[in-house]
Amino acid sequence: MENKKFYITTPIYYPNDNLHLGHTYTTIVADVLKRFKRIQGFDAFLVTGTDEHGQKIQEAAAAAGKQPKEYVDEIVASAKKLWKSLDIEYDKFIRSTDPSHEKAVAGIFTKLYEKGEIYKDIYKGHYCTPCEAFWTDTQLEEGKCPDCGREVDYREEESYFFRLSKYRDKLLEHYENHPEYILPVSRKNEMVNNFLKDGLEDLSVSRSNFDWGVKVPFDEKHVIYVWIDALSCYLTALGYGSDNEELFEKFWPANVHLMAKEIIRFHVIIWPALLMALDLPLPEQTFAHGWILFDDDKMSKSKGNIVYAEPIIERYGVDALKYFVLREFTFGQDGSFTNEKFLQRLNSDLANDLGNLISRTIQMVVKYNAGIVPGVGEIETVDGDLIDKAVNTVGAVEAEMEKLSFSTALEEIWKLIRRTNKYIDETTPWILGKEGNTERLNTVLYNLIESIRIIAQLIEPFMPHTSMKINEQLGIAPMGWNSTSEFGLYLPGTEVSRGENLFQRLDLEEEKEILAKLNQELVDSRKAEKMSLENAKETEASEAKTEITIDDFEKCEFKVAEVLDCNFHPNADKLLVFKLKIGDEVRQIVSGIRKHYEPEELIGKKVIAITNLKPVVLRGVESNGMLLSAANGEDLTLLTTMADIESGAEIS
Ligand code: MSP
Repeated sequence: MENKKFYITTPIYYPNDNLHLGHTYTTIVADVLKRFKRIQGFDAFLVTGTDEHGQKIQEAAAAAGKQPKEYVDEIVASAKKLWKSLDIEYDKFIRSTDPSHEKAVAGIFTKLYEKGEIYKDIYKGHYCTPCEAFWTDTQLEEGKCPDCGREVDYREEESYFFRLSKYRDKLLEHYENHPEYILPVSRKNEMVNNFLKDGLEDLSVSRSNFDWGVKVPFDEKHVIYVWIDALSCYLTALGYGSDNEELFEKFWPANVHLMAKEIIRFHVIIWPALLMALDLPLPEQTFAHGWILFDDDKMSKSKGNIVYAEPIIERYGVDALKYFVLREFTFGQDGSFTNEKFLQRLNSDLANDLGNLISRTIQMVVKYNAGIVPGVGEIETVDGDLIDKAVNTVGAVEAEMEKLSFSTALEEIWKLIRRTNKYIDETTPWILGKEGNTERLNTVLYNLIESIRIIAQLIEPFMPHTSMKINEQLGIAPMGWNSTSEFGLYLPGTEVSRGENLFQRLDLEEEKEILAKLNQELVDSRKAEKMSLENAKETEASEAKTEITIDDFEKCEFKVAEVLDCNFHPNADKLLVFKLKIGDEVRQIVSGIRKHYEPEELIGKKVIAITNLKPVVLRGVESNGMLLSAANGEDLTLLTTMADIESGAEIS
């Protein structure tokens, strides 16, 4: 009997409170694939999560004045929020700091050590901290890390090693016997030529220069290498190594590991070798997609070429973003995001092709038949042509999805959409209406509605909200994936209803500017927020402040402000947004004191504000000044006056 389970993974992300559109690519794709498999009748399981150990995180936490766990907890919350806004339906969010995961990873390490797959030795080599990787002399490029080009440190230290070298031939054999194991095929060739052809070295799998990680259970001065820790998440997310391995029994091996191209080598060299050493079956497929580029370059904070998903979702809806990402980029290759390309597709594919088809058809049913879908009469050649296209599209879509060709799968659906639009032009229902040819008109209207029903069902895994809205207008509940190969299931006599336009046609030039501005605002506010946190830290840290003169002090304007209103910031967990009365003026100030106050308790209070600070935008909300507070470690209190005094009173 066919195995109807499907296990999909995304990479286990580094904690990052600044995830951009590129980072969301794998999760968007993984979610669509899961919905697709589920609708096809598979029991599909999607895992994502966070890779939270390692020196980089330990250092970043220390720099933020936090314990590593406290630091990652906050970031994980922001990542989960982004996945929610993207409608990602994961079944398990695994954190490498979950105690059950840590216990299982320690168990994996011990098992490999006891089997002789891991041994202790001295590591001599060059260490790249950002990549958390050791390199030999010959691997360095111009003395620098071959992966990121940064400086490396020479180190000699005790380390545990995994016998990776002994798996070289087995890996090559596996690649050979399972052509679908690494996709696209070009990646397989790259792996063989760049990493396997000249032999493999054993892999250092422990670190002893920091302690934020899973400790080697029998030698606690070592922590387990982050990649062993992170890759194991694919097993522990299913309960491997816990008291309940039911999910593991059901879902392992993975049907597909999805990721971007730069991390495939960890997934097809280290990971399968580890699984072989653990006597576990290997995943069926590892698919590496390309990067989403912006201005033809990989997005990065340091280059300043970042596009965020949030403004796009807020303004155009999550379905429009998903459609664009899946349709525009060929899965497996790099692709460039531009606002122009996005808006063009929104106008042509979504507003014109899909949106118009629905609104024209519903309007005609309302106009010619009071909103009731009529029964069908005699079928003509042109009808047969549409019906064939409608019932055969599902086969073409499934064939493309089997290859993970998301773009061509959508193109197949859009061929049907365009065919249906053409059918309107061919059958000219408005002329039939004018001529009073009711029987023919009824047939045309029915065929249109039934084609739209099939279209709505076909787009459901890709654009669930849009699909639902179309069904609402059709007055029906979805009839299931199998209903897409049958024509005639829509019940005549059902009433349709006119809804709002699914997608608005937009003025390209005007909209391009708006979108660029929204994105830039978010880039700026995240930068400003980071800077203000850093400044706050520096201020806190510097004990002896430089002396200033009375003139310096007089440059600052402090005033008493009355809190008229106080709310949570819509996009930042640490911030509160205040409406303050300062004399006759009402102004808005954003303050990072969410942890210390509930908004309601502050309303009506008189506080002290600096009122001549240059305005900043913090996560999309403008802040005109700063509230003063006194802080001692974790304790914080807003400043106020000894006796009540009118708002607007100057402080000197
Ligand atoms: N922690 C590792 C993965 C461990 S998996 C056992 C990691 N994390 S990451 O946060 O840096 O990356 C997460 C994913 O985002 C990776 O697949 C990465 O390649 C992808 N992307 C980051 N920037 C990207 C683009 N601009 N475009 C497409 N994907 C990109 O690596």
